[in-house]
Amino acid sequence: MAGLGVPREVVGALHKNGILVGSMCGKVRHAIAAVASGCDFVVAQGTEAGGHTGTVATMALVPQVVDAVGDKVPVVAAGGLFDGRGLAASLALGADGVWIGTRFIATPEARTVNGYKETLIGLTEDGTVISRGFTGKTCRVVRNEWTQHYEEHPEELKSFPEQFIVSSRAGANHLGPSDGVTADLTKEFMPAGQGAGAINGLIPAATLVQQIMDEAEQVLSRMSGLRHN
Ligand SMILES: Cc1cc2nc3c(=O)[nH]c(=O)nc-3n(C[C@H](O)[C@H](O)[C@H](O)COP(=O)(O)O)c2cc1C
Repeated sequence: MAGLGVPREVVGALHKNGILVGSMCGKVRHAIAAVASGCDFVVAQGTEAGGHTGTVATMALVPQVVDAVGDKVPVVAAGGLFDGRGLAASLALGADGVWIGTRFIATPEARTVNGYKETLIGLTEDGTVISRGFTGKTCRVVRNEWTQHYEEHPEELKSFPEQFIVSSRAGANHLGPSDGVTADLTKEFMPAGQGAGAINGLIPAATLVQQIMDEAEQVLSRMSGLRHN
């Protein structure tokens, strides 16, 4: 299908400068096209993910992408992963690693508008929605009055990138370094995945990585113990 591939000339230019290239993939055919264009790795991102996302769930997508391109490039799993259990499960599905987004927003290091991190801590697993209200493209975000408005008035939606301009001008979109900015959270753009329900506090990023690694090791050793019993 036209337009699916990653531009080969861009990949070539990055490679010439010693830069590895990865591609976010929501479907098997995205991964096949990315590898054909010379990408060095692919991220199989399920619909659970925060941010621009597709419709296929991580559990179903990852093994299918692994089967399609896993013999050619590393496959990274993403979407709804937030701890060591998710890392262990991703490895079991054949992934080479994980790509975690939302969990790292709830760290002291993340640069966000005031209240975004606290909103994640208070969120339940069904507190997100896929909305086109902030960028014009399907994006999983914290459900709020802004997403509700566009759910009820889809005829007002502009396409990408015009809708991004609409949300920015309305003061509903401060994505990017925005430390200390006070935003109206009833309309603010807060990308978040379905794993947000598991976030109970801010944890420094390095501690978080260590916790995820430790827990994955425990899970994997428990599971290998089960096999021998
Ligand atoms: C605040 C935020 C911004 C994001 N921005 C981008 C982006 O600009 N480009 C991109 O490819 N993915 C983006 N993502 C998606 C992440 O790269 C990642 O795939 C996703 O967060 C993984 O799912 P999880 O949020 O459930 O961990 C973003 C995610 C979040 C939470």
